[in-house]
Amino acid sequence: MAKKGHTFTSDTDTEVIPHILEDVAKVENGLKTSVLKVVHQLEGTYAFMAILEQYPDTIVAVRKQAPLCIGLGDGVNYLASDALAFTDRTNRVFFMPDRSIALVQRDTLQVFDFDGNELEVTSQEVDARWKISDKDGHEHYMLKEIYEQKSAISSSLEYYKSYTPDSVWEELGTTPEQIMDITRINIVGCGTSWHAGRIAQFFFETVCNVPTHVYLASEFRYMPFFPDENALYIFISQSGETADALEAMRLVQSTGMSAIALTNVPTSTMAREASGVMLTKAGPEVAVASTKAFTTQLSGLYWLAHRIGLERGIISYAKMRQAQKDLRAAAIVLEQAIERYKMQIIQDVAPAYAQYKHVIFLGRHINYPLALEASLKLKEISYIFSQCYPSGELKHGPLALIDKDMPVILFSHLDPVIYQKVIGNAQEVKARGGNLIAFVFEGQTELEQLADTAFVIQRVHPLLAPIALVGLMQFLAYQVAKERGCPIDKPRNLAKSVTVE
Ligand code: G6P
Repeated sequence: MAKKGHTFTSDTDTEVIPHILEDVAKVENGLKTSVLKVVHQLEGTYAFMAILEQYPDTIVAVRKQAPLCIGLGDGVNYLASDALAFTDRTNRVFFMPDRSIALVQRDTLQVFDFDGNELEVTSQEVDARWKISDKDGHEHYMLKEIYEQKSAISSSLEYYKSYTPDSVWEELGTTPEQIMDITRINIVGCGTSWHAGRIAQFFFETVCNVPTHVYLASEFRYMPFFPDENALYIFISQSGETADALEAMRLVQSTGMSAIALTNVPTSTMAREASGVMLTKAGPEVAVASTKAFTTQLSGLYWLAHRIGLERGIISYAKMRQAQKDLRAAAIVLEQAIERYKMQIIQDVAPAYAQYKHVIFLGRHINYPLALEASLKLKEISYIFSQCYPSGELKHGPLALIDKDMPVILFSHLDPVIYQKVIGNAQEVKARGGNLIAFVFEGQTELEQLADTAFVIQRVHPLLAPIALVGLMQFLAYQVAKERGCPIDKPRNLAKSVTVE
């Protein structure tokens, strides 16, 4: 293109598109014909919009695999990759089909496939709760969303009550017979959703005795794939748009196997393409760093582990009901822990820890993936480097890093045997002069006394410890980032939904 006299101002591949469009539009008749010609020259996945000088009243929108949707208003239309961007203006939305072109004017909309055939425009109504609300007096969406966790968990549990014994497996895209036959559960996700899956592995293996494997979507796609009809596939994605997770799901479904999409966005691509959908009812999550989506994912997966256990005759109805009570209790503890330590964190802990350059996180067993999530949260929003290890690995290398400048954040465990090991890890840190923050449970005084700062959390069902612990950790990460003056809701270089591979 440069040889033809086009001047480029960046190195991004997207910039090639307007130049090709400009050339094609000079020789082709009509906007639609020009755009069709262009899309046949492009490779890869994309979604873009363009306005041509010759057609100033029309926005051209093109979608190939990456998401794009159109909000239909009165005398006005809106375009975005996510309906959340315009739900404060219109709740009628048209999700562009894959490989389609839209010609959008103020009050008209025409859509074509890549062969030029006109497609029908069918709009959907977006749930009113998806209206982007304001921050409810909070300084950031993240803080608002941290505080919404208890009610988000409760809304999710209420929603699961609406499943009937007949509808539940159908909605999840499977059958009671398949649930009886499964010998393995495979969970796939990215980022925080992957951490939820790692924690849920303990739910499925403990509650319903099904061996569970958890994969990073970006790795899963490039590993050997062995279709197994006795495996249940669960794809976790808050947004339902993450390219790696979506492509991994497409790969599984292309072999004729079914997949459950556990997502927070009912209108998302994953929700539309999956053979079964299980929703989390967190409501819109705006902050890039995931909080309430994570705890509702955990709640949904805990519920599902029990529901599978019930179907397979491993647990009773009473246990299923108890599981829901335990979830609500853990959500209350999450909130109370923040309330209890809020001032101490704001006044003392966050200002002190905001000075460090790096942090080590430690956790064991189910609280190891929780520690991974805590570590991710801190680095995402505060830009403090952190590394997370299973506590037992401390002596196999990371111990060499411990000194007064390397603080350690340690999560305890409710199991008495594992707790003793955690004490050992705390002693290893203290013996090297490390500064220790410990999240301990009530009654764990030995660990409490070893720590420089201890947060004492009420006891919950041991499998739900991650929910009880995570709220305060999110709050701590938030306050540290605030101390450092970081743009908390939109950290540099990160996006809420990563629609590129
Ligand atoms: C991005 C976000 C993370 C999120 C991950 C997966 O990296 O910044 O917060 O956990 O995507 O997103 P998903 O929508 O698939 O859960």
